[in-house]
Amino acid sequence: MGRLDGKVAIVTGAGSGFGAGISQAFAAEGAKVIVADISQAGGDATVKANPSAMTFHKMDVTNSADWKATVDAATHHYGRCDILVNNAGTSYKNKPTIDVTEDEFQKTFDVNVKGVYLGCNAVSAVLKEGGVIINISSVGATRPRPGLVWYNASKGAVSNATKGLAAELGPRQIRVVSICPLVTGTGLFSHFTGVEDTPENREKFIFNVPMGRIGEVDDVSSAAVFLASNEAKFITGVNLEVDGGRCI
Ligand SMILES: NC(=O)c1ccc[n+]([C@@H]2O[C@H](COP(=O)([O-])OP(=O)(O)OC[C@H]3O[C@@H](n4cnc5c(N)ncnc54)[C@H](O)[C@@H]3O)[C@@H](O)[C@H]2O)c1
Repeated sequence: MGRLDGKVAIVTGAGSGFGAGISQAFAAEGAKVIVADISQAGGDATVKANPSAMTFHKMDVTNSADWKATVDAATHHYGRCDILVNNAGTSYKNKPTIDVTEDEFQKTFDVNVKGVYLGCNAVSAVLKEGGVIINISSVGATRPRPGLVWYNASKGAVSNATKGLAAELGPRQIRVVSICPLVTGTGLFSHFTGVEDTPENREKFIFNVPMGRIGEVDDVSSAAVFLASNEAKFITGVNLEVDGGRCI
């Protein structure tokens, strides 16, 4: 028996990094997954790992019409929707705040905040009792550091909205949680750190992590499986740090 047997999930940003890992972990636990991403190539690559359990749907999280089509795709292919993972995210390259352009600021808030707003509205309208929304926030929501001020502020909004939504949707027995990952070697690594993703550069970011390493995709996908499953049935409004103790 899979821990997500019979469940249908929409995962955004599922063509790379955490989203690809979460989609594969959900499918391995028995879920059907709408792999939602703006990148056709990325989405196709994710689906290839388990085509009988996943369907790619090209969409832009900042576009409300795309959200309607994504929910329709879940219903059309799998008959329902139980889980939404708002994972798609973006950032400008790490730099002093005074050098962040208006376009970079706008894109960061459009994808990271407006995308979550539109996704929660579109999907909460069809979620039934037992539904779950998992937002991918960041350790930067509570421990902002120089060079990523407005990226971290966008994740602060996500963590705050997670609690507000949990309070609002709780009476409908819908849970809303977030996962706050530590820096991990995904497509966004060089944006966050300002340096290339190499083994030597990864070592530079472990000195303040009690458990002595940066994150791995599997740390986040395992947490997502638990939070999406009935094992977490009384957990809502939690911003779960998956960070080897970095935020202590
Ligand atoms: N990697 C880290 O160190 C880290 C740490 C904390 C939080 N996060 C968060 O994790 C989430 C996933 O990022 P990742 O690290 O896996 O990065 P990634 O670049 O590997 O994946 C991001 C995916 O989102 C997709 N995407 C971007 N804009 C989109 C849009 N408008 N509509 C639909 N899809 C879009 C991209 O095509 C890509 O497939 C993000 O929300 C990010 O902020 C990452």
